[in-house]
Amino acid sequence: MRREAVVATVPVAVAALLAAAGPATAGTTGAAGAGDPYFPLAGNGGYHVSHYGLTLDYDPKSRHLDGTAVLTARATQRLTRFDLDLKGLKVTGVTVDHVKAAHRRDGQELVVTPRTALRKGRTFRVTVTYNGTPAPVTDPDGSPDGWIPTDDGAFVAGEPQGAMTWFPADNHPVDKSAYDFSLTVPEGHTAVANGVYLGKRTAHGRTTFRWRQAEPMAAYLATVTVGRFRIEQYTTRDGIKVYNAVDPREAAEAAPVLKKLPSVLEWESRLFGPYPYRAAGSIVDHAPDVGYALETQTRPLYDSAPSLSTLVHESAHQWFGDSVSVTRWKDIWLNEGFATYAEWLYTEQHGGRSAQQAFDALYARPASDALWAFPPADPGSGENIFGTPVYARGAMTLHELRRAVGDRTFFRILRAWASAHRYGHGTTARFTALAERESGKDLDGLFHTWLHTKGKPRSA
Ligand code: ARG
Ligand code: ZN
Repeated sequence: MRREAVVATVPVAVAALLAAAGPATAGTTGAAGAGDPYFPLAGNGGYHVSHYGLTLDYDPKSRHLDGTAVLTARATQRLTRFDLDLKGLKVTGVTVDHVKAAHRRDGQELVVTPRTALRKGRTFRVTVTYNGTPAPVTDPDGSPDGWIPTDDGAFVAGEPQGAMTWFPADNHPVDKSAYDFSLTVPEGHTAVANGVYLGKRTAHGRTTFRWRQAEPMAAYLATVTVGRFRIEQYTTRDGIKVYNAVDPREAAEAAPVLKKLPSVLEWESRLFGPYPYRAAGSIVDHAPDVGYALETQTRPLYDSAPSLSTLVHESAHQWFGDSVSVTRWKDIWLNEGFATYAEWLYTEQHGGRSAQQAFDALYARPASDALWAFPPADPGSGENIFGTPVYARGAMTLHELRRAVGDRTFFRILRAWASAHRYGHGTTARFTALAERESGKDLDGLFHTWLHTKGKPRSA
């Protein structure tokens, strides 16, 4: 399946080293993957996308999607050929700089051969027209991911792989880009994407919604969720533009929680540093079969009315996960451990149990518990990236760090982390180095035990 045999046949450790140096390349063809051992075909080599322009038309009744994607990219090597990630759907045309390009499908790869080679450093524009009935992929953990049809539209989430089910992408968080969306749906439906709402226009019974995500975004955090929603818009005291879309069936239960969004963002800004985006909001869908929420950038997506804890969690991801992104899926605890610890902190500072109590309750679990099944910084495969150790033991690691360095230094570390890699990427090694730098302490033992060692750590 994988055409660049050079990566597939080397041991994983070497592949990881190659990946650290950038995706493996074979001459002048862009690699089929970004070099992530958990998802070898996710992302691509040879270019970076600076902007996606997505023009989509969706009919919830027939479930038909018509799309045009315009990608502005820059070649990081000479390219006679490159890949995009796209699964399912039918591609009806590809151009590179307005010149028709040859293309073929190979599994989840859309292989594009431009008429003339692209020199290294060149900025180029790829236009892909496509259509069909989008369908989700099933993740290694069994969850649906991508374009998930609902009874009134579609729940569109993409972590870790699903973006490719609805637009051709460089589908790995290592590549972050700005987005413009133009989304047409039948009048009466709403199509909600990321970033700032630019307005809508209705003609001939169809409404087009326009959205702009100006700050860099990983493909998995893009959404274009469609449904019959109640809309609420306002601007916070800090000037953040809020757009909430709520399925009426979830509205009564969601209202008291959504009301707290501005205060949650303010509280998190005090703890983590300035909110990274100019827009915020929530999408509360009625999608009972999905089973998870996602921190879609600026506007988290819920499959039903969220609890306050879940809202705090997805909001914390705006700093940890969305603004500071993972470089490799292996480091997912940098997202989930942090967002989970934010829940503990919120509870602690709002009259509930302390983070220490949350830690103790988990630590009391026997060594045989799933919590200790693998170390958070080494989930082992894509199957485990949303496992309990990533969330709970990841949060426990941060609590241990806090106890070791004290509150003042701990919160300084969180802010330094959010600011050092704002709109960029982090790795576990960078985080532990930053924590040692900020605290002036040798934390190797703590991180070795909590992040990298199998089994229940002996002493808390
Ligand atoms: N990042 C999401 C959260 O913790 C979870 C996404 C789960 N996705 C999945 N395909 N299992 O809020
Ligand atoms: Zn999360």
